Amino acid sequence: MDTAKLILAGKEYEFPVVVGSEGEVGIDITTLRAKTGAITLDSGYGNTGSCKSSICFIDGEQGILRYRGYEIADLAEHASFVEVAHLLIYGELPNKDQLATFREKLTRHSMIHEDMKKFYEGYPPTAHPMAVLSSMAASLSTYYPPVPGEDSDQHIIRLLAKTKTIAAYAYKKSIGQPTIYPQNDLSYCANFLRMIHAVPCEEYQVNELWVKALNKLLILHADHEQNCSTSTVRIVGSSQANLYATISAGICALWGPLHGGANQSVLEMLEQIRSDGANYKKYVDMAKDKNSGFKLMGFGHRVYKNFDPRATILKKTCDEVLGQLGINDPLLDIAKKLEEVALNDSFFIERKLYPNVDFYSGIIYRAMGIPTNMFTVMFALGRLPGWIAHWKEQNEDSGSRINRPRQVYTGPTVRSFLPIEKR
Ligand code: ACO
Repeated sequence: MDTAKLILAGKEYEFPVVVGSEGEVGIDITTLRAKTGAITLDSGYGNTGSCKSSICFIDGEQGILRYRGYEIADLAEHASFVEVAHLLIYGELPNKDQLATFREKLTRHSMIHEDMKKFYEGYPPTAHPMAVLSSMAASLSTYYPPVPGEDSDQHIIRLLAKTKTIAAYAYKKSIGQPTIYPQNDLSYCANFLRMIHAVPCEEYQVNELWVKALNKLLILHADHEQNCSTSTVRIVGSSQANLYATISAGICALWGPLHGGANQSVLEMLEQIRSDGANYKKYVDMAKDKNSGFKLMGFGHRVYKNFDPRATILKKTCDEVLGQLGINDPLLDIAKKLEEVALNDSFFIERKLYPNVDFYSGIIYRAMGIPTNMFTVMFALGRLPGWIAHWKEQNEDSGSRINRPRQVYTGPTVRSFLPIEKR
């Protein structure tokens, strides 16, 4: 199986077949237009491979997710988020020395320029933290302007180190509290939680259970191959836009409720169901009714047609975290009942709709005292190493070109211009 044949207008054409390391088959149609004059049409890109990549492998039919060959469940159980970030960006898990150096760099670069703090004064308190995050990410390029051709590692470190500080400041600003500087003896996750929850008037105690849960959540979100935001990163990056601008675009793509914004929508949906008497069956029926305009948020996935392995881990984590914290969240009960009803309903079974990563994550964030409008920011913090890894991989690929899809035009054919008085 090394070539594929296409017959178009009675003429036969051959195209090479590319097989990935996990046996995934791609028909290389790079020469399609040159040879035939035709293009492919694949709205939503469900059948289009936009690049070769060695970062992340998903088998949606089997429910498999691996980062650089490592099973997601192993990484979530045994690794730290910083180790996973190293793995994604540099290709290998760090050894002890490499990890110490990487941690040290991430710690040293975690403050943001004092002048940048003034930007926060310009946003209304109601500003969505995703808007603030994307603006601030792009604004980093004004303080640390990348120079074409320079080593990008310093920018990668800065972005990774500073984004959690930027995110925490956005939250503090929204609740009118003073911002808290990062503390160098704390881990990445503990530092973030402290910057979110600490107040200057009292001692802050790190909650190790929250740190562990956050570490797991960030790892589970760290990469997911060519999803909407990562493809955005690759598209923007392909124009050689700088790293900060590129990631800012990725953050915006993630914000939408069909993508990372779903975690906020799930919680809002569960709240709505609770305030409506916890009648979850009514909402399952609404989701099945195409005219209702309602979807079960946190359900369904373009790639997973069996189960989302991240959701399985998160459901268990959710039970553990809430159990250990002694929290009895009625939204968790509603979520579980909703899942049970949906998974036994032919509408969801036939369409292979399962809970995705966003279904249970919000309930864990809620248990950590993180407000609903910060959920997608949490997703962005987790996804950051994945975006950076894809940007780096693309940048280092000497064969990569500017991403520029084509279209099948369906508008009017040529028309004569009519002056205004004749229209
Ligand atoms: N609730 C009800 N019906 C659904 C849902 C849902 N959550 N998701 C898909 N369907 C139905 C569709 O209406 C469609 O039905 P049809 O074949 O009768 O027309 C069928 O299932 C296939 O769905 P599509 O929308 O065509 O699937 P697609 O791959 O384009 O979209 C998506 C995937 C966007 C995730 C979709 O399932 C969805 O909107 N889910 C809810 C939002 C969500 O949870 N997003 C987070 C995804 S994970 C992530 O990005 C991190």
